[in-house]
Amino acid sequence: MILAIETSCDETSVAVTKGRRVITNIISSQVDLHRKYGGVVPAIAKRAHEERIEPAIKEALKKSRISTKEIKTIAVTVGPGLAIALEVGIKKAKELSLALKKPLIAVNHMEGHIYSCFAQNRNGNPKRKIAFPALCILVSGGHTQLVIMKNHGQYKLLGETRDDAAGEALDKAAKILKLGYPGGPVIERLAQKGNPNKYPMPRPLFYSKTLDYSFSGLKTHFLYLVQEIPPKKVGVELKNLAASFQEAVFDSIIKKTQVALQRYHPPSLLAGGGVIANKLLRRKVRSLVSKYGAAPYFPPKDELCTDNAAMIGVCAYFMIKSGKITTNLIKLDRKPNLCFQNG
Ligand code: KG4
Ligand code: ZN
Repeated sequence: MILAIETSCDETSVAVTKGRRVITNIISSQVDLHRKYGGVVPAIAKRAHEERIEPAIKEALKKSRISTKEIKTIAVTVGPGLAIALEVGIKKAKELSLALKKPLIAVNHMEGHIYSCFAQNRNGNPKRKIAFPALCILVSGGHTQLVIMKNHGQYKLLGETRDDAAGEALDKAAKILKLGYPGGPVIERLAQKGNPNKYPMPRPLFYSKTLDYSFSGLKTHFLYLVQEIPPKKVGVELKNLAASFQEAVFDSIIKKTQVALQRYHPPSLLAGGGVIANKLLRRKVRSLVSKYGAAPYFPPKDELCTDNAAMIGVCAYFMIKSGKITTNLIKLDRKPNLCFQNG
């Protein structure tokens, strides 16, 4: 039984997990606090985490109908993420670990996003037996990465964004169109009824051999395009603009995923991160992997795509199995720029 804490960005989340099973996953979203700023404000996130962490722990225990005595391990996100936000979760996790005399597991947030594909409900479903190596596509507001997972805990980073993350690009496009924050879900809704070919968009690094991404040129192109359209017409064209922008982002993701599938021939593909909640992107990924004989896996619930503590708990379970337990609590610190350790 693991109590997991996640405070790397703007979600205060506490989960109770048992093996791969998610018993409870409490997510207190701060979206309403950050909306008027059009993005996450670190100082506001820190304060909100401090206010919400204790109630979230209490709620997670209550909903799980367990006492603190039944908790065997504490898990916490140590990075990557916003330093002052990570700190809140780490401090609380250390306190709990000392008070309950239970070991602490320091989890990489991006590894957590991968393990969201391993999560099960409290009845142990879905029963997935994932074959390695797995190609992992991680598409969130802070990261866009392609990783090969050779086995549990063994990764090789193949490529990542050189500037903005895909979710960040969608958020910025929504801001340019004055659609509010976060942008991904609004863009998705509008794009459903738009023509993705109406406005041609650049696709940086598309034909390059690299598995890296770049989205900042696309964003700048979009800003200039929208500035040239008369304001009244922008309203009429919202659906086409959203669809064209989204298509360019997804084309880049699909293209690099295809190159990786051709190079590595993995039997499985794991997709994680907030943008993976997008239905069109999932359809595109499914259709792509079917051509390469790889089995696609997505987080079994939308709330496991965006930031949550359940994925941290599930990841911690697999880390315990390979003996990765933090013994020196004093030395445990936030790692805002934590990367995958190639191994
Ligand atoms: O994984 P996540 O919760 O946070 C980070 O670790 O960054 O991802 C948040 C990102 C935001 O950029 C948001 O706009 C995007 O995920 N997102 C979506 C959808 N839902 C959330 N993007 C596209 N379609 C969605 N349905
Ligand atoms: Zn995330």
